[in-house]
Amino acid sequence: MELHDAIQRRASVRRFSDEPVPPAVIDALLAVAALAPSAHGRQPWQFIVIAPGQSRQRLVDAMAVEWRQHLAGDGVDIAQIVERHAASAARILAAPALLLPCIDRSLLDVYPDAHRQQAEYTMAVQSIGCAIQNILLSAVARGYDAGWMCAPLFCGDAVRREFALPATLDPQALIPVGRKAVEPKRRPKRGADALRLDR
Ligand SMILES: Cc1cc2nc3c(=O)[nH]c(=O)nc-3n(C[C@H](O)[C@H](O)[C@H](O)COP(=O)(O)O)c2cc1C
Repeated sequence: MELHDAIQRRASVRRFSDEPVPPAVIDALLAVAALAPSAHGRQPWQFIVIAPGQSRQRLVDAMAVEWRQHLAGDGVDIAQIVERHAASAARILAAPALLLPCIDRSLLDVYPDAHRQQAEYTMAVQSIGCAIQNILLSAVARGYDAGWMCAPLFCGDAVRREFALPATLDPQALIPVGRKAVEPKRRPKRGADALRLDR
């Protein structure tokens, strides 16, 4: 598939068929993630593949506590919290394949001032975004689909604790991969307006 077709066809998929994703496809997606541009060429990421089963359930349970506290703090009522958590848990548990992209802070440059250190971290976030986009587009090019869930970003401590991840890993997202069960809703795009500065 042409790159442009993959870009056009990609959409966030939230419901997948039960068809498993062959390990070779996951390997291929990780391989294209590794080709992404990154600030200073540091490749400041670590991708974690979370197999279906026990690990997924542990992830869901670990994130639930913090997640529920956040929603309760926002004034969301308990029935809604339970409903939203159940929907999110179902997506995580049912994903045919599931990737957890993390920033690895041990790979970042160290600066003496907070401003440049913050910029370094921002560049790591930008870099991992490029790597994730490679995965999303390559999945489409291979006849698969993918989504994006930001939940681990808000429960990094819980995820690190549950899986005994090094303290330097910052979970960024969950990327479910599989074949779509239904055609995803196409979200309207704002278009390619740019400010053109010519003087
Ligand atoms: C940083 C980021 C975080 C996102 N988090 C979520 C999420 O938590 N749950 C979800 O269903 N979609 C999430 N998405 C997907 C967006 O909702 C989706 O990209 C957007 O609605 C546009 O739709 P499209 O991807 O189909 O073009 C996220 C996307 C990005 C880039």
